[in-house]
Amino acid sequence: MDWGMKNRLASIFNQKSGRTVMLAVDHGYFQGPTTGLKKPRETIGPLLPFCDSLFVTRGILRNCINPTTSTPIFLRVSGGPSVLGELSNEDITTSMKEALRLNAVGVGISIFVGEKNEERTIGNLGRLVNEAEEYGMPVLAITAVGKEMARDARYLGLASRMAAEIGAHIVKTYYCAEDFNKVVEGCPVPIVIAGGKKIPEKEALEMSYNAVSKGAAGVDMGRNIFQSENPAAMIRAVRAVVHENYTPDEAFELFNRLKDKKVVSQVVE
Ligand code: 5RP
Repeated sequence: MDWGMKNRLASIFNQKSGRTVMLAVDHGYFQGPTTGLKKPRETIGPLLPFCDSLFVTRGILRNCINPTTSTPIFLRVSGGPSVLGELSNEDITTSMKEALRLNAVGVGISIFVGEKNEERTIGNLGRLVNEAEEYGMPVLAITAVGKEMARDARYLGLASRMAAEIGAHIVKTYYCAEDFNKVVEGCPVPIVIAGGKKIPEKEALEMSYNAVSKGAAGVDMGRNIFQSENPAAMIRAVRAVVHENYTPDEAFELFNRLKDKKVVSQVVE
């Protein structure tokens, strides 16, 4: 692996735990101003010190994130359809040159296995990896799951393995209660989990704990952090699980303690 690729990956994964807490705030690229991200600058700023990287589109990055931040930026580079359309109809929307100009440490793209535009989105991933490899840029493939698809180990394992076979350096998929370890075992590159729809904080911490216990390399979590009643307390509790092996009970206790103190980061970037 080339030095640039190694260096970027090292800035994403914590050197001590080997894991990562990515904060996903890209939802507006197809959902518009969604709950919790109506004012991106206000929501994201206080959370930046607590994530290992921010998963974001170039538009929100340029307009809402202070360029003095030291948080690594992972750029979403696919898009196209809105929630009103056929979600699998995505293309690459942001060039590699732009990712380099924005000093990204990685680029992310969705694939839609089993969906209408499966082949095209797999082709998009292949083209992105071809170009990214030239510049030492890691590619995160997101296994988007359509309404018709079962979020079980068989489907998630298929989509994750395909993403890795096409060349993704990291795969983002969903957690499944049964056989998640098989999803991880079948995928030769690190897996991070998306959080999915907002669930109670304790359950989101349990899901994070189970995922890393079964081999996930961390989370790329959005709604379960920024829609929490205290996003700063929640991301710190997720970090405790991912990096310090806190149990769900210990992490929930931490969440409640931080929440009651109304702790938010003093650093608003
Ligand atoms: C949407 C995405 C989101 O980044 C992903 O779903 C993570 O966010 P959440 O934890 O809210 O599910 O890639 O396609």
